[in-house]
Amino acid sequence: MSSQIPRLGLISALHQEQAGLIETMQATEKTHRGMRDYTFGKLWGIDTVCVLSRMGKVAAAATAATLIERFAVTHIVFTGVAGAAGDELRVGDIVVADALVQHDMNTTPLFPQYEVPLLGQSHFSSDKNLTDRLARAASDFAALDAQGAISEQDRENFRLGLPRVHRGLIASGDEFVHRQERRDALKAAFPSLLALEMEGAAVAQVCFEFGVPFAVIRTISDSANEEAPHDFMQFIDRIASRYAFGIVKRLCTQA
Ligand code: ADE
Repeated sequence: MSSQIPRLGLISALHQEQAGLIETMQATEKTHRGMRDYTFGKLWGIDTVCVLSRMGKVAAAATAATLIERFAVTHIVFTGVAGAAGDELRVGDIVVADALVQHDMNTTPLFPQYEVPLLGQSHFSSDKNLTDRLARAASDFAALDAQGAISEQDRENFRLGLPRVHRGLIASGDEFVHRQERRDALKAAFPSLLALEMEGAAVAQVCFEFGVPFAVIRTISDSANEEAPHDFMQFIDRIASRYAFGIVKRLCTQA
């Protein structure tokens, strides 16, 4: 694996989504740039740069571009949480993006809705090979590690079953979706939509423009409805951070 990822850029929006990974890195060095800390080191043998983007598309795009231009990463993986866009997804499920779209991109009537002006496309595909590997890491984690990664108490508190891994479309926008009506409208606009978040499609566009392979993985933290803000931070702290750690470990160590 490591020979195929010469230098991995690992982004999360929030500290809790990357908890444990920086502590696990060996021979670390930190550089402060554009109000962010970029931490270098070996993560289970892979040359890695870890960074927190903060929330939103601009923050994510600036972080991805800096990783590519200044820190010469060859691949980017974004880990974090998302709201469920469809009823088939439960809190605690894992979504791996095949493609991403910016649901708040709208320059009509100049260009079709959702299309990124002058790029001529609305959807950005993730790298097939990296996404296959990430999906395998997530499935192995779900089957073999997830139960042991979470305490009985947390499993009960969040009413978690074993995570199921879904693969498909993720939509991003500068909006925390917390109304059923809004979530339903987005689902109607993109019928195959699985999850809603605030960064992935921005990273996807930057990686497309620079020709850098990328993948995005999200744990469902809420149902993007009126309940969404409750326990959001606690879910990241107690559950999503452990899922991200376990999945990245499997990604870095798989054959
Ligand atoms: N990330 C996690 N939950 C979200 C939601 N409901 N809307 C946007 N981003 C999210």
